[in-house]
Amino acid sequence: MTQHDRLLIIDFGSQVTQLIARRLRELNVYCEIHPYQKVDDAFLDAFAPKAVIFSGGPDSVMRPGSPRPPKSVYELGVPILGICYGQQVMMQDLGGTVEAGEHATAEFGRAYVEPAGRSDDFLFGWFLEGREQVWMSHGDHVAALAPGFEVLGTSPGAPFAIAADPARRFYAVQFHPEVHHTPNGRTLYENFVRLAGFTGDWTMEAYRDEAIRLIREQVGDKKVICGLSGGVDSSVAAVLIHEAIGENLTCVFVDHGLLRHNEADEVVAMFRDHYNIPLIHAEESELFLGALEGVSDPEEKRKTIGRLFIDVFQKYAGGIEGAEFLAQGTLYPDVIESVSFSGGPSVTIKSHHNVGGLPEKMGLKLVEPLRELFKDEVRALGHELGLPASFIGRHPFPGPGLAIRCPGEITREKLAILRKADAVYIDQIRRHGLYDEIWQAFVAILPVRTVGVMGDGRTYDFACALRAVTSVDGMTADYYPFSHEFLGETATRIINEVKGINRVTYDITSKPPGTIEWE
Ligand code: XMP
Repeated sequence: MTQHDRLLIIDFGSQVTQLIARRLRELNVYCEIHPYQKVDDAFLDAFAPKAVIFSGGPDSVMRPGSPRPPKSVYELGVPILGICYGQQVMMQDLGGTVEAGEHATAEFGRAYVEPAGRSDDFLFGWFLEGREQVWMSHGDHVAALAPGFEVLGTSPGAPFAIAADPARRFYAVQFHPEVHHTPNGRTLYENFVRLAGFTGDWTMEAYRDEAIRLIREQVGDKKVICGLSGGVDSSVAAVLIHEAIGENLTCVFVDHGLLRHNEADEVVAMFRDHYNIPLIHAEESELFLGALEGVSDPEEKRKTIGRLFIDVFQKYAGGIEGAEFLAQGTLYPDVIESVSFSGGPSVTIKSHHNVGGLPEKMGLKLVEPLRELFKDEVRALGHELGLPASFIGRHPFPGPGLAIRCPGEITREKLAILRKADAVYIDQIRRHGLYDEIWQAFVAILPVRTVGVMGDGRTYDFACALRAVTSVDGMTADYYPFSHEFLGETATRIINEVKGINRVTYDITSKPPGTIEWE
């Protein structure tokens, strides 16, 4: 557990709770999100927050049994900020009243808060000079303030859009300061954490040092195995653990023959040669491609690869004498999802690590040094650890690799063509300076041959589809709006440089309804 000052976000189920954490992390403040069901007196005692934030939520405080924080939270003597539902909970808990929303007072979307009351409040002084754009999303609203509170701001649908009890350092807002559409929301958070006495010492450098200390504490002189995929998460986890325990870390890199051009060589060069990390290169392409022969159903492909991956990993890792731990690059969003507001599923090990079930099977304990980080923080940590920028910024690559970019039966011939086409496409994207704007880009080779003409001859070769999407988290995605010039130039290059492809298409499906990968 971190030794930094900690802020507790009690989650009442808002869609944007994670953004509160983002805003705070940007201010170098360490925070954790916990669903209200988990937060009881004992929890508060153990967590010892320096400040607390109540998130928004979909429920109505007027419904009997609606979500509440434990009463003891108000006795901690630390600043509390209530947001939206969190404001209403705070008011009602402390003796104010909340009124049911009517059509006329509900506010959804952009709204404006006008100053009311004093203008010298520490948190809101910045705010009271004129009307302020904020983002609202509420039906109910506070109708009477709790004793000790005063109003500082008001909007058409929320007479107490900002309420404060400066003596107790309790603040409550009806709007969402964490979203982009509340342009000055960051200042509010900044003032709140300063008021609470945070020093902003949650830096990546501090995190790295502390993570190293914690890994040493957890692992001692025992050995750790890390499944390396070449992706950012497992790479950063491996380098971090290596800094902590050196030679006691062994990485296993499973090469299933479905990797991109040069990928295996790059991973081996980086980790074995550059970082001197003991690395087992499990070259098992024959095994995987053999098992995939004749398989064209996407689910069967995934299952075959997943099953073999576990067998292979176990075979190589089993030979590492005295290994007691398995390292995984689990990130904070996976951890949060696992204890979601709705009671969600219990902790799931990210399926894309392809080692689900392995820890139990091999009797290994888990080391998850990235559990507290968001994706961009993992990248920052990678930077702190000296991983090259080109590596840190790489697009995600799925565990089943090129298998799911080769609809229909997988053959060595198709894989070779796909690798070449993909390399040309990515080179084009890099040359045009577009790589970092794109979440993921790749080529899929289609299971059809089409007729073409090159020189004076007829060709009968494969068609391929280019895919490029923008996305924040891979859950939804939009196709990337390349210029026609770019697409034309890329198609020409692929057809000229890659023998076996004579037709290039561009996939303009968003997700939903499509998925990012073709299978
Ligand atoms: P889809 O195709 O579901 O992909 O829109 C969303 C994101 O997940 C990646 N993906 C996978 N990653 N194992 C992985 O490690 C998988 O089986 C897998 N399937 C999809 C995909 O590349 C995209 O980033």
